[in-house]
Amino acid sequence: MAPKKKKLAVIGDPVAHSLSPQMQNAALRALGLPFVYSKIRVHPEDLKKFFREEVPKLAGFNSTLPHKERLFPFMDWVCPKARIIGAINTVVRRGKRLWGFNTDGDGYLVSLYRENGFSLEQKNVCLLGAGGAARSLAVAMATAGVRRVSFHNRTVERGAKLARYLKGHFPKVSFSYTGLSGTPFHQSLSKCDLLVNTTSLGLGKTAFKDFPWQHIPSGVLVSDIVYNPRITPFLRSAQGQGFPIHTGEGMLVHQGALSFLLWTGRVPDTALMHRTLLKSLSRLS
Ligand code: ATR
Repeated sequence: MAPKKKKLAVIGDPVAHSLSPQMQNAALRALGLPFVYSKIRVHPEDLKKFFREEVPKLAGFNSTLPHKERLFPFMDWVCPKARIIGAINTVVRRGKRLWGFNTDGDGYLVSLYRENGFSLEQKNVCLLGAGGAARSLAVAMATAGVRRVSFHNRTVERGAKLARYLKGHFPKVSFSYTGLSGTPFHQSLSKCDLLVNTTSLGLGKTAFKDFPWQHIPSGVLVSDIVYNPRITPFLRSAQGQGFPIHTGEGMLVHQGALSFLLWTGRVPDTALMHRTLLKSLSRLS
């Protein structure tokens, strides 16, 4: 008889849209590992019940909105990066012990390197946005030796607060902030090596209408963490201006691959995960 499969899952609310099961199960099957990955919808008010009744049956899980920030009280240990980010996207269970990690930012960096050969050491990065996604990217970049990270956000004070907070954790990195228009924004753009959209907005929406591409040096890599559509209006516009681009689905692949490694101790076939994800995405469009 085949051994009983260990259970992995992604929890969220909503979670129906998640493409992680297809991607993770393809990689688990390819290595013949006795795990199966599913999705579980957990309402925020049912989180305690989920930990009591479901977690003991899981070997580990991913978390997405709205749970990432709410898992801390349930953990026995949380890795330093997840603590600084303030969000957990991967939980590993060993017996009764639960360990929390955040693989989002590192997944993004692996994707940048694998797909565009871009590494962060001593680079200047401009991030559009100053929310949770910007924070996880900035923490991973700071750990990877970035020179400067600038937050360009609609709510300027939010960027200022995030810059101050991160300076406290990474004193060697320079953090700055501006709004989404005006001279300081343009000056910052003129010095960047990488420009990343971490907001869920495309161009066309008011914030990025008439994006000031003319201030960005030619050859700068333009990246978006949104993966559906794969070529976002922001990336399409960048392409139209002749900039190289980096698409968002690679972050999903590599954060998932790092979670996979934490659960199974094995390195998954990320090319297979990527192909599987692109196939699922093409079915959606
Ligand atoms: P996430 O975890 O995906 O980063 P979040 O923490 O809610 O989500 O952050 C959303 C980001 O998108 C913020 O930077 C937000 O800007 P504000 O801090 O000014 O709200 C940005 N954003 C959302 N809607 C926007 C809009 N219409 N114009 C400009 N920025 C917007």
